[in-house]
Amino acid sequence: MSREQRRALLKQHGGHVGQLPAGTVAFDFSTDSWAHLQAPYIDARMAVLRQRAARAPQDLQQWLAARFPFRHFVVTRRGRDAEALLFTALAQPDSLVAQNLLFHTARDHQQEQSMTPLELPAAGALEPTPAPFKGDLDLAGLERALAERQVSLIFVEALSNGAGGQAISLAGLRAIRALSRAHHVPLYLDATRLVENCLLIQAHEAGAAGHSLAEIMQALLACCDGMTASCSKDYGFAGGGLLATHSAPLFAQAQALLPAVGTALADADRACLAQALADWPFIETQAAERLRQTQWLGNGLQALGFPVHTPIGGHCVILDLSLVPGLRHAADPVSAYLAWLYEHTGMRGSPHWGGCAPAYQRPLWIRLAVPLGFPEERLHAALGAAGQLAQSAPAWRNLG
Ligand SMILES: Cc1ncc(COP(=O)(O)O)c(C=O)c1O
Repeated sequence: MSREQRRALLKQHGGHVGQLPAGTVAFDFSTDSWAHLQAPYIDARMAVLRQRAARAPQDLQQWLAARFPFRHFVVTRRGRDAEALLFTALAQPDSLVAQNLLFHTARDHQQEQSMTPLELPAAGALEPTPAPFKGDLDLAGLERALAERQVSLIFVEALSNGAGGQAISLAGLRAIRALSRAHHVPLYLDATRLVENCLLIQAHEAGAAGHSLAEIMQALLACCDGMTASCSKDYGFAGGGLLATHSAPLFAQAQALLPAVGTALADADRACLAQALADWPFIETQAAERLRQTQWLGNGLQALGFPVHTPIGGHCVILDLSLVPGLRHAADPVSAYLAWLYEHTGMRGSPHWGGCAPAYQRPLWIRLAVPLGFPEERLHAALGAAGQLAQSAPAWRNLG
């Protein structure tokens, strides 16, 4: 598709890249959710899972228990349904939920239950300074909040989205666990992108290098009373959500709430999810690839002069438009830049969801999410298109 065709398409869709049909986007980095993307590599993997499910059915419950060390599981259609169950079941109006910078759906459910998100990211989480575990919590702030305020739950997201895909550390989660025990406050983890987070722990945390990914994952999950997850990012499946818990009363409550609060995963999809979880080597290999690809894309764009925020996250590249002089006076810099990038390269990004406290919002950040399984040659083609743009439009920093 030519630049003129893309420009015409954008015009038809009011200049909003989010409204473009999937078939018109050469490089779709608007999300890493297999549930929301349409792409041949996802269709091909889903076809494999369906074939395996027909030939040699697997027991989903067995594979859930093998991967995630909790007693009870509720499997939903989407991750946000699992979150809705958790926050409805644990609702304590007027209480606080201590957390790092989450994807917005968890926060929305807290607020629906009249609970207030208390964001306590580690100092400098959003600053462009090198540090391996910017997803960690500010432990002193957490301790103070637990001692002085009405905190009913601690909720931590692996590979913190609001911080641009920054990892949590095992030492950090263990310290949170010690505080959660001392104050009798439950600790739940959003394990949507746990595998890349474990890879980053293995690569960067003192003492972790000799441990397998499975050991690191079990050590993280052993800190928690339970977890939620969207299965469409790390787990190689185009849908699904998970609530896992040790608590029998919470499980009973979640099951009772399910018809009203969420949607259970359909039987045919449960059969495919079982196959996805059974094929753990695929998940580990693909997560390692996606981590590498994300770093590669981010470093490449930075070398071309694009305003890449560092450190680069585990699943996405953040472009910080506050670094683009020509955008300072644009009415809607994010939409303008997304449209410009799509028109010239065929790449689609999305606005970044930051934190909810003003200090943690980043309205000038754009997110380029790299989905699991993204074909290597397409990634190279995307960076090639960005390189041509950087060359052909020397005034590109000003959107010339
Ligand atoms: C960390 C995280 N948790 C939960 C969700 C919600 O999952 P779903 O889209 O399956 O409802 C998302 C979606 O992107 C996410 O990134």
